Parts: sequence; C-alpha cells; structure tokens
Amino acid sequence: MLYQNFAKPFFFKMDPERAHHVVMDGMRQAARLPGGASLLRAMYGVKETDDMAQELWGLHFPNPIGLAAGLDKNAEAVEGFSSIGFGFMEVGTVTPLAQPGNELPRLFRLPPDRALINRMGFNNEGTQQMASRLSALYEHRIPVAVNIGKNKITPNDEAYKDYEKCISSLYPYADFFVVNISSPNTPDLRKLQHGDDLSILLQAVKKQMNVEAERYGKAKAVLVKIAPDVTDEELEYMTAAIKDSGVDGIIATNTTISRDGLTHPNAKETGGLSGIPVRERSTEVIRKVYRQTGGKLPIIGVGGVFDSQDAYDKIRAGASLVEIYTALIYEGPGVNRAIISGLRELLRRDGYSHIREAVGADHN
Ligand code: FNR
Repeated sequence: MLYQNFAKPFFFKMDPERAHHVVMDGMRQAARLPGGASLLRAMYGVKETDDMAQELWGLHFPNPIGLAAGLDKNAEAVEGFSSIGFGFMEVGTVTPLAQPGNELPRLFRLPPDRALINRMGFNNEGTQQMASRLSALYEHRIPVAVNIGKNKITPNDEAYKDYEKCISSLYPYADFFVVNISSPNTPDLRKLQHGDDLSILLQAVKKQMNVEAERYGKAKAVLVKIAPDVTDEELEYMTAAIKDSGVDGIIATNTTISRDGLTHPNAKETGGLSGIPVRERSTEVIRKVYRQTGGKLPIIGVGGVFDSQDAYDKIRAGASLVEIYTALIYEGPGVNRAIISGLRELLRRDGYSHIREAVGADHN
C-alpha cells in the first residue's frame, strides 16, 4: 500500500536510473541506522518456516525467493536486501576491472507491459571494491551469490581469464558463484554459451573453483546463468555441456532481446527486456532444462515473477529457487511476503507439506 500509493508514483516520475540510485542509497542508509535493519525486517521481513526452507549446495535457504543479479551490482546494500524477506540474493555482475557501462539513458520503463528494458552494460566498480565491501560485512543473514562477468575490453578468447580472476579475488566472500554468459548488453558475451567456447570456459571456471576450494579448505558451488533466446538444439547442447562440466546448477533466464507483444513506445529501445513479457519463455526454458537433466541439476528460475502463481509455475516446471528483479520495481518490497504467503496456500491446495515436493511436479 505504502509503496503503491506513495513511493511508486514518486519514483516513477523520476528518470529510472536516478530512481534506482535513490532506492540503493535508501537501502544502504536504512540498514546502517541503529535499529534500521530491524525496522526493515519488521516491515517487510518473512518469518522462516520449515515448509519453505531448503538446503542446497551445503547452504541454508530460509525461503525460495531471491534477489536477481543487477540490482545490487556493487554489493552496496546487502544488509538492507537481506532484511526485506529475501531467502538469498545475488550481487553483481562484477567484472575484474571497474567499468562505466553504456551511455545514458540505458534503463527504460514500460508500465503497461509491466516490463523494463536495460542496456546497462555491466557498469560496476570491479572485484577489488566488491571484495572490500563484502569483507566488511559482519555476517550473511542469507546466502549471497556473486555473479561474475567479463570486461567489455576483454576479447572472447580470453574471457575465461576474467572469470578466473573474479573467482580468485572473491572466493572467500561469496557463498556461491554465478557465471553470467547471457547478458545481451556486452558485445558477443552470449556467444560464450555455444560450441567449444562454452566447454572451454566452464572447464576453466571449474578448475579455478577447485584451486580456491583447496586454498581455502572449502568447496563452493558455481552456477551458470543462461539466456532465453536460444533454439531447442542450442539449449540441449548447453545443458549437456553444463552437466558434463560438473557445474552445480543453472539459472534460467536472463533478459530477452525479443520484443513480442509490447505496447509501450520504449519497446524500440535496444537492450534486454525483463518482467512479464519474459515470464512464459523463462518457465519454458526451466521446464526443458529440468527434463534434459532429469531433475538432477538444481535450477534457479527467474523472469517475470510478479506473484505467487508465477513463482509456483516455475517451481512446478523444475526450479528449486526463484528470483525477482522487475517485480520489486513495480510492486515494491512487500512483494516477497505476498509471494511467500501465496506459495504456502498453493502448496497446501495441492497437498504438499514442503516446497521441495513441488519442485518439478509438472513432470510427474
Ligand atoms: C538485469 N539482469 C542482470 N542479470 C545478470 O546476470 N547480471 C546483471 O548485471 C544484470 N543486470 C540487470 C539490470 C537491470 C536493470 C535489469 C532489469 C536486469 C537480469 C536479471 O537478473 C533477471 O535475470 C531478469 O531481469 C529477469 O527477471 P525479472 O526482472 O523479470 O524478474
């Protein structure tokens, strides 16, 4: 209510990227004030319950709804986002070197389509800054994944070196890693999803993960985030290569370059489309990946989740966890509580006592 009636009209009058900075500042400051994080938890937190909690990759997820990558690119507001009901979060995409990203404007709202288009281009402060932010955190209330990418200036045949650098500089601070090869806004990045490029990259990533596991005496999971704009054959190849590489899971999906069914004039903007228009396609990709992996590789589902039914559809298609981004902009921070309480009702309706029983239920 507070968000829909007051905050949203205020933010939606602002330039979208400016609004983003105001929200990020607010989240950072709120969690720093004495009692601030407790206040956020009282307003938007979600009480942990047995039916929603899961153990995956040796980590405890208090609930299945996470914050998708790209909102807290520099790990500036981990405490704030950890206090508004998320069960886990991603920070990043981070690249080895800081880079400014694309020219402004680069973020656009499409309100009637409940969508965003962005062509940010991995604007971020680099791994060194992220390491210092994450190392200053006292504890992680929820699992924090670091989403990693390559710098724009790094050619594709050397991309693996950037992923290795990200892993080695951030290993102690991440609970798990996400290899992002699916953003449409870094030229040629998505080519890394195909052919030998993918196997070579994943081999290098796994090797570096093993080196760091040895060095720190602790193994951590690494997932790969894929795009929705792939053919069935490409998806089959990708899933097989990911499975063979020994990577621990798949995040499906990133934003789409498709513009089907949009009504708002911002549809003409270049970039990745998120929100409701990517919802069905992302669920379809989750369903295919689950089928191709026999449900053995955990999937995080993301794309157009706005309510509990959207989250449940992805879980039934095969996602163990679900993430949101665009819904947070359109619905506000109360959305997590609403999704989780609605999910509980859907589970009960279908006779499940734990979220894990619903994962992949459509395939039974
Ligand atoms: C993103 N997304 C994204 N993904 C990623 O892996 N690294 C990134 O840096 C970003 N950056 C980013 C910026 C903006 C402005 C948006 C809207 C999105 C993609 C995001 O994590 C998610 O996969 C998609 O947005 C689909 O989910 P939603 O937004 O429909 O819930």
